[in-house]
Amino acid sequence: MNRRTFVSATAAALLGPRSSRAAEGSATVLLREQIGTISPLVHGHFVEHLGGVVYDGIWVGEKSKIPNIAGIRKALVDDLKRIHAPLFRWPGGCFADSYDWRDGVGPREKRPKRLNFWAGSPMLRKLENHPAKYEPNEFGTNEFMRFVQEAGAKPYLAANLRGMTAREFNGWVDYCNAPLGSTTWSEVRGTPPFQVEFWGIGNESWGCGGDFRPEEYSVEFRRFTSWAPGFGVPLKFIAAGPSGGDLDWTRGFFESLVRKSPGLLRRVWGWALHYYCGTAGGPVEFTTEEHYELLGRAARMEQLIRDHWAIMGEYDRGHRVKFAIDEWGAWHKAGSEVAPHHLFGQIGTMRDAIIAGLTLDIFHRHADKVAMACVAQLVNCIHSLFIAHEDRMLRTPNYHVFDLYRSHQDGMAVRTVFGAPMSGKAPRLDGSASWHQKDNRLVVTCTHADAAEPLAVDLRLEGGAAKEARARVLAGAPRDHNTFEQPERVKPREMAVSLRQDRLSFEMPPCSVAAIEMTLG
Ligand code: AHR
Repeated sequence: MNRRTFVSATAAALLGPRSSRAAEGSATVLLREQIGTISPLVHGHFVEHLGGVVYDGIWVGEKSKIPNIAGIRKALVDDLKRIHAPLFRWPGGCFADSYDWRDGVGPREKRPKRLNFWAGSPMLRKLENHPAKYEPNEFGTNEFMRFVQEAGAKPYLAANLRGMTAREFNGWVDYCNAPLGSTTWSEVRGTPPFQVEFWGIGNESWGCGGDFRPEEYSVEFRRFTSWAPGFGVPLKFIAAGPSGGDLDWTRGFFESLVRKSPGLLRRVWGWALHYYCGTAGGPVEFTTEEHYELLGRAARMEQLIRDHWAIMGEYDRGHRVKFAIDEWGAWHKAGSEVAPHHLFGQIGTMRDAIIAGLTLDIFHRHADKVAMACVAQLVNCIHSLFIAHEDRMLRTPNYHVFDLYRSHQDGMAVRTVFGAPMSGKAPRLDGSASWHQKDNRLVVTCTHADAAEPLAVDLRLEGGAAKEARARVLAGAPRDHNTFEQPERVKPREMAVSLRQDRLSFEMPPCSVAAIEMTLG
C-alpha cells in the first residue's frame, strides 16, 4: 500500500456515515507537510498579437466609444484587478520571433504596418485590410506597459531570437529599463523606467522560433544572456523549453549549457515548458466520453512536470532552475469564434473550467518546482478568460476559476491526498491546499469531473482544526458556457459546508470547481 492509498484508506475508515444520494470522495490536508510558497506568478496570462487577442480584445483605441483607459478596454482591466492577475507575457508566442520591438515605439501615427506572423493562416488570409493580418503597431511597448500597470501586474517580455541580434535585444532592455534621460532609447520611451525583470529568450525555438536543435539553442541562449545590461534591474531569463513530453529538448539544452560551464545555470531563471492538452470533440459540442478524455489529457501536466524535473536535476542538482510554464491550455478545433478574425478563438465551457482548476491545482502541488505559468491566451483565443468583440465582453467559466483560486497566491502549499474513483480517463476528484500564516487561513480548491453525479466529500485536516469555513462553487453541465446574450449563465455561488473541527463535509455538484476557505483554530 503506498502513502496515497494508505491515507485515503485511513481517512475512509474514520469517516462517519455517507450521504445516501451522492457517491463518496475523501480529501486529507496534511498541514505539517509543506511543499513551497505558491508564487502568484503561476496564475499568469499570455497575450499575443494573434487574431482578436490584442486588437478587439485589449486594444480598442483612444477614440473608441467603448469605455477605455488610454485605448485599453476598461472592463477587461477592472476584471483583471478583481482576480489579482499577476503577470502578462507579451508579444508572443510565434509572433515574438517575428517582432521588431522598434516598430512599436515612438509616435503612434508614425509606426510602420507589417505583415503579421499569423497572416497566412486560412482564416486570416480571407480578410482584407485588418489589424490581425497587417499589424498596425498601435499597441507597442508603452501601451503594453500601461495595460500591465493598470491591471496591477508584472510584465514578461518575449525577445525575438530568430530574427534579431543580441545587440538589438539589449536595445529593448535599454528602452524598458534605462533611467529616463540616461540613454537615447530612454528618451524615446519618455516615461519612468518600466523595470522589466522577466525576459523570454525566444519562443518554441525548436519550431516557429528558429527550428533549432537544443544544443544550437543553448549557444544562442548564452549569446543573448551574456553581459546583458539590466540598468539596475536584476534580469531573469526564461529559456525556451520543450513541447509536452520532448525530454530530448530538455536534456540537450541542459547538457550543452553545463558542458560549457555549470555556472551558466545561474543564467536560467525559468524553463518554459509548453503543453496544450488538445481537444476531444469540438469546443462546445462533445460527448461525455470526450469530456473525460480531455480532462485525462490535461492531467498529464503533472507527469510532464515530474519527467522534465528529473532530467533537469541530472544537470542542476540543487534545482535552482524552476519551471516557467508560459503556455498551457486546451486548444480546440475552430468553429466557435465570435468574429471572423478571432483566430483560435474558442468559447470556454465548464469542461475548460475544470481543466483550468485541475492545472492550477497541479502547479500548486508542485509549488517547489513551478515558479511561473501563463494560460494561453487571455482573450478571444485558446482557453481564454474573456471573449470580447466591439462593445461586448463576457467572462468565460475559466475566468471564474482564476477568481476562485486567487486566494492561494503567496500561501504555503501543503500536501493533500484526494480519494475517489476515476471518471473515465479523468481523476474524478483532485485539488490543492495552501496555508496562509498571516491570518492562519487554509485554502482548499478542488475539481470534480463527473458529468452526471454529485460527490459527497469528507475533508479531514491532519495537524490542525478549523474554526469556520466558507465555500464557493462553479458548476454546470460540461458544455455550459456564457454568451453575449447570457453572460452570467455560469458563475460561482455559495456552497454549503458542515464543519466539525478537523472534519468538513460538503457535496460537489456534477462537473464543478470549488474553493473552500477556513480559519484555523
Ligand atoms: O498560443 C498559440 C501558439 O501556440 C503560440 O504562438 C505558440 O508559441 C504555440 O505554438
